[in-house]
Amino acid sequence: MDWQAPKPQKSVRRHPIILLAAITGLTTLALVACNTQPPPPPQPRTSGPSPLISQLAPAPGIPGQPENGRSLFVSKGCPACHTLQGVPAAVGAIGPNLTNISLRPTLAGEAIQNSPTNLTRWIVNPTTVKSDATMPALGLTEQEAQDVMAFLWSQPYNPVQFR
Ligand code: HEC
Repeated sequence: MDWQAPKPQKSVRRHPIILLAAITGLTTLALVACNTQPPPPPQPRTSGPSPLISQLAPAPGIPGQPENGRSLFVSKGCPACHTLQGVPAAVGAIGPNLTNISLRPTLAGEAIQNSPTNLTRWIVNPTTVKSDATMPALGLTEQEAQDVMAFLWSQPYNPVQFR
């Protein structure tokens, strides 16, 4: 049998119609992409239904009024420096995130044991608990501080629902 040159394989050849279709498709895609409107800016979470739970379950055996504490938390300016899940205004980043702080073993570092008493003292005046504390005293009375503590301590019993 004589040697024959191999026939060009059909699959290697590209049909001009397919090429044309591909180019047209890509051009259309590019045009569509250019005409697309930019997505609307994200809406702040606070514009939706308020995630605030109206009646807070108190932490068992903890003195103070959680709802009053929550109001004080906002009115005394804590949100300016602290983030706290469930309080939409509390997105501050100067101090630590206080979400579920009652579940942490220590306060403001590792030396101070976290307890309702120490947290209340901290809220009245941080330097009585830690001499070099960088958080200012905000003028809360003992009773007000106890209510804020009761609010912070109640947090794990009132899990925030995100929609
Ligand atoms: C001007 C900013 C500022 C304000 C206002 C402020 N804090 Fe703080 N807070 C800080 C800083 C900074 C720290 C960290 C202090 C440190 O470790 O020495 C802190 C620490 C804390 C801690 C300990 C956190 C941890 O991770 O152990 C608690 C609890 C706390 N703040 C509660 C409050 C409460 C309640 C209010 C409102 C009554 C408040 N803070 C207002 C700045 C602030």
